Amino acid sequence: MTNDPLSPELDGLDTQLFLRIADELRTQGYSINPGALPLSLGDGLSSHLSGLRDEQFSRAGVGRNAALHENDAVRRDQICWIERDSAIECAWLDWTGRLQESLNRQLFLGLFSFESHFARYAIGDFYVRHSDAFKGESNRVLSIVVHLNPHWVPGDGGELVLFTGIGGEERINVNPCHGTVIIFLSEDFPHEVLVTNRDRYSIAGWFRVNSLLRS
Ligand code: OGA
Ligand code: MN
Repeated sequence: MTNDPLSPELDGLDTQLFLRIADELRTQGYSINPGALPLSLGDGLSSHLSGLRDEQFSRAGVGRNAALHENDAVRRDQICWIERDSAIECAWLDWTGRLQESLNRQLFLGLFSFESHFARYAIGDFYVRHSDAFKGESNRVLSIVVHLNPHWVPGDGGELVLFTGIGGEERINVNPCHGTVIIFLSEDFPHEVLVTNRDRYSIAGWFRVNSLLRS
């Protein structure tokens, strides 16, 4: 296998992963895939992240539209929106584009656009239990989270907790290990990021439907 994130040789593996994600979304509404991100993509994103300067990150906000404000009690991470500014960002957006196409073919979701940001949690940072979308109020349909933390070990903290089951009373703890890909229905699964004991990196993204078509 080559190291080129755009390599067509990765497509076979991606196809299997995308089909598994579609299957699990259909049956349970979420899909957790440790180590599933193509290696060259994960490593490229990691080295891109370590090259970003502090001033390229900004404090993440909380709330919707006009209510958007910083809130230290809710989340402490710093974010940097992903655009097509570098080859590795293009490779990421091409990969999520292929995932979007595949999910639309499998599940007829009508996913229309995608937005994502890098997030950096410094020691002591967290993000309390929250939903990425509120019923009927958002065009965010699917959330994706990718963890980019080589050499993460238990004790480093920063686990992602996904609340499942009726009423969200069951907890699934996901270690933020390098290359883990988590996808879930944005409205249905509250989740939180536990306090991290080391610098912790992730990407959070949202597949959206066209709001003009949604009543
Ligand atoms: C988010 C989020 C989870 C993570 O940014 O909305 O839930 O594991 N991130 O970084
Ligand atoms: Mn979230």
